[in-house]
Amino acid sequence: MNTEESEIYGPKPSPAEAWEPTPEPAWVYLLRCPDGSLYGGWTNDLARRLKAHRSGKGGAKYTKSHGRDAVRLAYAEKCADKSAALKREAAIKKLPKDEKEALAAQWAADNKITLRLATPDDAAAVCEMYNWYVRHGVQTFQYTPSTVEEYRANIAHVLENAPFILAESADGRLQGYACAHLWHEREAYSWDVETTVYCAPDCVGQGVGGRLYRALIALLKKQGYYNAFALVTGNNKQSNDFHKALGFKKMAVEKRTGYKFGQWLDLDYWILPLRNDTDEPQPVRKKLTEEEIAEVLG
Ligand SMILES: CC(C)(COP(=O)(O)OP(=O)(O)OC[C@H]1O[C@@H](n2cnc3c(N)ncnc32)[C@H](O)[C@@H]1OP(=O)(O)O)[C@@H](O)C(=O)NCCC(=O)NCCS
Repeated sequence: MNTEESEIYGPKPSPAEAWEPTPEPAWVYLLRCPDGSLYGGWTNDLARRLKAHRSGKGGAKYTKSHGRDAVRLAYAEKCADKSAALKREAAIKKLPKDEKEALAAQWAADNKITLRLATPDDAAAVCEMYNWYVRHGVQTFQYTPSTVEEYRANIAHVLENAPFILAESADGRLQGYACAHLWHEREAYSWDVETTVYCAPDCVGQGVGGRLYRALIALLKKQGYYNAFALVTGNNKQSNDFHKALGFKKMAVEKRTGYKFGQWLDLDYWILPLRNDTDEPQPVRKKLTEEEIAEVLG
């Protein structure tokens, strides 16, 4: 579109060919059972699989008879595709116990995450993670990747009213982020925020998003916000299940709200009340003390 056209028309619809597909994720994993034993398997959705093991519905006979609801993820390895995952699963299952334990110990050390508030200097890492989803998915309705400068401004803007939290591994890799911004600008909405969360594609389903969101919610409560809203693409099952698991309630589905990669997309509205009282609210505290933040993120 030349300059004159862009003054007359809105953006062109994003066609299916603009999608940069990624192979369906495939993982091998080990679960730690309460008796200390390890169970190995493969999946293309870690969180869903873990849930199945814990509920006993569609899990495995072994975990069912070994304290199923208390099993926890002890190791996860992303593979190129299903066939690579099946081969790796077979190889891991043949390992002697001490080598399986070594894998689990290394994984725990590599994935020990810490949470901290972002600064505008974190823009490059955050922007790179977010742009992956802009190019590869419909989790965001954005067509054009953001620039680092836009993200610098975005982080600074978010921090004026709410937290922008990063999850980092022991070696400083960004594993995910969560933030909130005002739901609407008009004054009467001052107690309402919209929340957002993204994990690095290699880190989904391993508890990072949950830790980030729970910390974000705890800080928003301390600030005195009343409602958290989340807008989730209808076919983003992972995020819809995640919001349900975190206690959000679905309020509405807006049909055919966005168009990306050659398809119309629904938008699901989720709400989490942060307080229940109906008295006159105190003004929101835009900044918490360092101690209050450390108490939650620490
Ligand atoms: C959505 C997202 C942030 C969730 O984070 P995560 O680290 O994968 O989720 P966790 O492993 O911390 O799971 C937290 C809870 O959600 C549930 N959950 C997460 N993914 C799930 C899935 N695919 N199926 C079922 N439940 C799921 C977990 O069972 C867990 O429940 P519990 O606390 O009762 O055990 C992450 O998957 C992601 O970044 N996805 C891509 C980007 C995206 O969609 N962002 C949201 C835009 S609206």
